[in-house]
Amino acid sequence: MRTQVAVIGAGPAGLLLSQLLHLQGIDSVILERRDRDYVEHRVRAGVLEHGTVETLREAGVGNRLDSEGLRHEGTELRFARAAHRIDFAELTGRTITVYGQQEVVKDLIAARLDAGGDLRFEVTAVALHDLDTDRPRVTFDHQGEPGALEADFVIGADGFHGVSRRQVPGLRVYERAYPFSWLGILSEAPPSSQELIYARHANGFALHSMRSPTVTRMYLQVPLSEDIAAWPDERIWSELHTRLATDDGFALTEGPLLDKGITPMRSFVATPMQHGRLLLAGDAAHIVPPTGAKGMNLAIADVRLLSHALAGYYTERREDLLADYTDFALKRVWRATHFSWWMTTMLHTDPHDDAFSEQLALAQLDYVTTSRAMSTSLAENYTGLPYERGWSYR
Ligand code: PHB
Repeated sequence: MRTQVAVIGAGPAGLLLSQLLHLQGIDSVILERRDRDYVEHRVRAGVLEHGTVETLREAGVGNRLDSEGLRHEGTELRFARAAHRIDFAELTGRTITVYGQQEVVKDLIAARLDAGGDLRFEVTAVALHDLDTDRPRVTFDHQGEPGALEADFVIGADGFHGVSRRQVPGLRVYERAYPFSWLGILSEAPPSSQELIYARHANGFALHSMRSPTVTRMYLQVPLSEDIAAWPDERIWSELHTRLATDDGFALTEGPLLDKGITPMRSFVATPMQHGRLLLAGDAAHIVPPTGAKGMNLAIADVRLLSHALAGYYTERREDLLADYTDFALKRVWRATHFSWWMTTMLHTDPHDDAFSEQLALAQLDYVTTSRAMSTSLAENYTGLPYERGWSYR
């Protein structure tokens, strides 16, 4: 079997790349370890930057996103029992859209299959070969049958636990583990606020988010190795009420829980994001803590660069766009890594920190919510940085 681009992983990165390549007449095959039902239903992130929404529209998957996505013009920071709004639209002219990652995945899978795309689920034992030649190969098992795929390029979009990153010799890794996790819930209840609420409380961080007018998504900071059994529903609700409380009487609407899970928080950046004919995208190369809502947006930004670089290769035999992929991708990745770390430390209580750090975080929150310069900085990072290659902040 032969294709132009072999894509490992049917998450947002792999699917979107395959779709963007297809629109430019470039052929690809996607190999995914899980089954279709699993990838379409795993509950993940939900915030799309302005540029992410535009990219999805350009990829031809903007219809349901435009009708069902919730456009937000700002967000709220909450601390010391008071609410403070950051007005993205006014400060940057940009907005964000709340639309679940699994909805993006469903739309992309439907688009790939409609266009006759080759997308294989339940592919195991993936191994990459001859990456430093111009005929790389992938071998695998597909539903029990051995298979082999020859390509011009292999894209490692197989997530943090995938096999691709391990094929890059001399990989350098930068890492930070945060001393807490997030307990996330999905509740069948209308959101209690029109916008997202990021709250700092002495008991820890809480986040109010949503998926639709009838489904609320919320998170609580919990200890690092917390057991979900320690969090019966009543405890979750009681802690959400406590951490989100304001002096002007904020009311949180409860509902039956549809999903409940714990995720550790880490920052991780691997470089280079390429080796020979292998190029990495998304979580395979970098992870950010979810506090800045950057994870899926970074994956999509990687794919925009890759799609452009591969198109340059196929139309004009240009190698330069591929050669500097890592450098361009990492500029955005490190900005987002800093932003996510900054949001995380400002909003969480660190069990190892002292009263001094607590006061620094509160001083920072006060500054961000009262200085136009600081709130503009938060807003421009949150709604998304420019997409031009080698952009500057001016
Ligand atoms: C979510 O809705 O799942 C969500 C929103 C904002 C974040 C992280 C997760 O920062």
